[in-house]
Formats: sequence, structure tokens, C-alpha cells
Amino acid sequence: MEKVVILLLLINYIAAINPQERIGRIINDSEIVSYIYGGQKVNRGEAPWQVAIQIPEFPDFLCGGSIVGNKWVVTSAWCSSGLYATGLQVRSNTLKLSGGNQIAVKATNPHPNYSEEQHTGDISVLELMSDMPIGKPNCAAINLPKAGKEPSGGFTVTLTGWGYNSSETPQKFTEYLQYIELQTVSNRVCQQTIPSLASDNACALAQRGKCTSFGDRGGPAARKDQNPPFLYGVIITWDYTCDKEIVNTSPYYEVFTYVSNYTLWIQAIMAGVVPTTPGPI
Ligand SMILES: *[C@@H]1O[C@H](CO)[C@@H](O)[C@H](O)[C@H]1NC(C)=O
Ligand SMILES: *[C@@H]1O[C@H](CO)[C@@H](O)[C@H](O)[C@H]1NC(C)=O
Ligand SMILES: *[C@@H]1O[C@H](CO)[C@@H](O)[C@H](O)[C@H]1NC(C)=O
Ligand SMILES: *[C@@H]1O[C@H](CO)[C@@H](O)[C@H](O)[C@H]1NC(C)=O
Repeated sequence: MEKVVILLLLINYIAAINPQERIGRIINDSEIVSYIYGGQKVNRGEAPWQVAIQIPEFPDFLCGGSIVGNKWVVTSAWCSSGLYATGLQVRSNTLKLSGGNQIAVKATNPHPNYSEEQHTGDISVLELMSDMPIGKPNCAAINLPKAGKEPSGGFTVTLTGWGYNSSETPQKFTEYLQYIELQTVSNRVCQQTIPSLASDNACALAQRGKCTSFGDRGGPAARKDQNPPFLYGVIITWDYTCDKEIVNTSPYYEVFTYVSNYTLWIQAIMAGVVPTTPGPI
């Protein structure tokens, strides 16, 4: 499934570079992407850590991210490596996919153990060229979780993003930031449905029509039931099938990179201990 999505993106990417040579979508969209139908609009100050990661020359690309320091953003490694390593801009301080403050990325820092096939190490720490306007109502850092905790079930996580919200084509990212609230499950439970779940993943139970979609990847799964809230997971769901029939018969899980596994690594990068990877601009 993920290969299909990547292929599709590649095709879109090529098409975006040279519209004259657009060869069209070879895959039926309704077979590969699902959508947040259950999302609700985020209000001012409710997810001030959310940022949009964009490439101005490539409007088909979008990822989410979370502010963890004045010039530091945590996202998925998928959003900041390979095809997407260059030209990244981070938009903060806004609930709309436009406006706010856009700042270029200085270094991407994908985790050295990132494997798209094994879904491990899917996390990056972006360093920006300058500070974000921290302290504005829609711009604040979220805390990192304590290191070395096991993912556990029964907690509410809040997922936010501007990803596709409709199966209508052409697909559009949402104008206003959306959220859904889901219940976490233990990895033992999640593994019964997703045998390939990695030891640094965590899951939450989604529902038909209440799930993430393309454009939400890299964004936060926040534990807002805690004071202060903390970043429980980074959205990395690779199998966008939430609107398919299968959801009627088996549970569908959102998958995250479990941030507790990477708290010390993130802190080391922010402290300049781990040498930062030179990031292309
Ligand atoms: C796309 O796939 C869906 C589900 O398999 C099908 O119902 C629909 O007719 C297909 N659309 C096109 C344009 O092929
Ligand atoms: C990468 O994985 C190896 C083997 O599991 C481990 O020893 C190493 O600490 C990991 N690297 C980081 C930066 O976590
Ligand atoms: C992630 O953390 C869990 C819980 O401490 C641990 O069992 C697992 O081995 C860790 N995985 C990685 C890849 O660091
Ligand atoms: C999806 O988002 C667009 C743009 O914000 C909006 O116009 C549309 O009503 C939304 N659709 C659904 C099903 O929520």
C-alpha cells in the first residue's frame, strides 16, 4: 500500500515539476486514500504546537509537525528525507494552511535508524533558520514525554492536521486545522491486527471515517489530558484504508512513532550534542 502511495506522489511530483508532461493518476484514488470525516475545527490556542511543513514549489506535499523548542520541530522522517529533503518550510502560528509565519528549515535530522519498510525510527528533528513567534496564541512548544515508558491503552490522544478530508477529487487539504480524539491501545492489542508493528510504534483505535489521511503525517498525537500536555506520538500511519469496508469487520488503528523512545535523542539534538545533519535548503 505505502509503495503505491509513494509511487503516486512521485507521479504527482513529476507532474508538478513539469505540468506539460502530466501523465495522470494511474491509480484509482478511492482505493488508496481515506479521509477524516469525523474531524472538527481546532479553535484558537487548542493546538498551538501544530505546524505545517510545506514545499512552496510542490503544493501537493504537506506534512504536520510539532513545536518542541523556539526553532525546533518534531515530525516524521518520511516527511524530511529522500524526495522531500529539500526546500522545506515550516508554517507556524496559524490555524489556517495559509498565513502565520513561514520559516525555512536549516537541518532535517532524520533518525539514523529510520526504516520506511519496518516503520522504525520514523522521526526527525527539524532545526529552523530562525525562531518561531513562541508566545502567540497559536504558537507554543509542547513537552516531550518521559523517556523509557511503555505505550499503554485507554488514554485519549488528540490528533491534528490539515490532511485530505474528502474523497472528492481533486483532493484538497483542509483550510482549517482539524482534530480527532482517539483512544490508545496497548501494543499487544495492536499487534493482533498489525503484526509488523515495531517496538517504537504506538497505536490508537480509529473508526470508520474518523482517522488521519494524506497530509496529516508527521503531525502530533498529543496527550491533552495531562497538564502540561505532552507529545505522545508522531502520526506515521502508512496504510490509508480507514474508509474501506474492512473497517466494518476488523479494528483499524492509527500508528505513531512512540516519542518516549526518542525523548533523549531529541533533547541531545536540541542541546547540540548529536551533530546536526547539514540540511539542504
Ligand atoms: C474506483 O474504485 C472504487 C472502489 O473499488 C470503484 O467503486 C469506482 O468505480 C472506481 N472508480 C473509477 C473511476 O475507476
Ligand atoms: C540504532 O539501532 C541500533 C541497533 O538496534 C542501536 O544500537 C542504536 O543505539 C540506534 N541508534 C540510535 C541513535 O538510537
Ligand atoms: C522503545 O521503548 C520500548 C519501551 O521502553 C522498548 O521496549 C523498545 O525496545 C524501544 N524500541 C526502540 C526501537 O528503541
Ligand atoms: C473539507 O475542507 C474543505 C476546505 O476547508 C471544506 O470546504 C469542505 O467542506 C470540507 N469537507 C468536509 C467533508 O468536511
